[in-house]
Amino acid sequence: MPALVSGRKVRVSFVGTGGNARAHMRDVHRDPLAEIVAICDTSAQALADTATRLPELAGIPQFSDYRAMIADARPDGVIISIPHTLHYEAAAYALEHGVSVEVEKPMTCTPADARSLIALRDRTGLVLTVGYQRHFQGVWRWVHEHVASGTYGPVHFVEAWQCQAWGGGGWRGVPELSGGGQLNDSGSHLCDIMLWAGGVRPSEVFAFQENRGLRVDRISAISFRFPGPGVGTLAIIGESVRGMDEGMQFWCRDGRVRVDGIDSSVRVTAYTPDGAAQPVAVQEVSDYPVSKDGNFVRCILGEDAPQVPAECGLAVAAFTEAVYRSVATHAPAEVDW
Ligand SMILES: NC(=O)c1ccc[n+]([C@@H]2O[C@H](COP(=O)([O-])OP(=O)(O)OC[C@H]3O[C@@H](n4cnc5c(N)ncnc54)[C@H](O)[C@@H]3O)[C@@H](O)[C@H]2O)c1
Repeated sequence: MPALVSGRKVRVSFVGTGGNARAHMRDVHRDPLAEIVAICDTSAQALADTATRLPELAGIPQFSDYRAMIADARPDGVIISIPHTLHYEAAAYALEHGVSVEVEKPMTCTPADARSLIALRDRTGLVLTVGYQRHFQGVWRWVHEHVASGTYGPVHFVEAWQCQAWGGGGWRGVPELSGGGQLNDSGSHLCDIMLWAGGVRPSEVFAFQENRGLRVDRISAISFRFPGPGVGTLAIIGESVRGMDEGMQFWCRDGRVRVDGIDSSVRVTAYTPDGAAQPVAVQEVSDYPVSKDGNFVRCILGEDAPQVPAECGLAVAAFTEAVYRSVATHAPAEVDW
């Protein structure tokens, strides 16, 4: 990537200062190549809470409107961490005003908006990355390098599931802000990693969902087809016992790859065609800034390539939108790539 900044620290700002944004702030604050120059939230309470919880940000200008923040603070990059349906407008505004964007998941709630952001990125030459941190985990990089890249031959079946006691509280239960329920929230991580690590590109989906008294989906049962030919299933169980867990399996021509668990407990097992389990020694990424924020900063400096490019956001938006269309029409839906 060409450098957008050189000879100084990258000036980073924030749109949204809620729970997730504060983790990004700590990460950027620790980065010797970056400085936080402004933060913005429409909620005065959220700004006050951030000041209390992150005293290291004392003196950094606060704004209630990201347009004013971009005009006054002139950041190089903005990290957007606000309710889902608001992502597109904030990201488009930043790119149109010369500011690179790291946007939280899901990047957008429609594939049309995702394509529009990609076009803006390409027209401006700015950086646009998405907040899917699993791309920086050794296990998932291994799966990407071996399943998506074809070590085990073509994939012909995928099974993926996620369970979590997901309440849909606050804006998450309001479809006008969340753009959907658990499928569009934690489920977005499962969709992204299945599509990216498996190199799977679904062409058609058929899905059932249950809201369990909420205005948004809490449970999803999704079937899909992908070229190969292959088929798969993805289950999101948002009404569950406490805690969060996941599993994913890829059946390939020359083996099976199975991933169990989540975050620090995640592990991978590979099986040969005769069913024997092969030990997989996964190297954690050592030659890398490791975090999504570190990658964003180094992309702006021209020192790295995006590890979660906007195309990953488009893939999830296209798949998710097809699921909602299938549920609404009670019929199979083609994925709008
Ligand atoms: N990658 C992850 O693992 C992960 C984890 C949690 C949340 N997230 C994502 O982060 C985003 C925020 O989630 P959260 O849990 O922090 O929610 P949150 O409710 O804690 O914070 C959202 C903040 O956005 C503010 N906001 C709303 N509209 C705004 C606007 N127009 N301009 C500025 N601020 C505005 C709200 O006042 C609130 O403070 C979502 O996209 C969510 O999916 C990602």
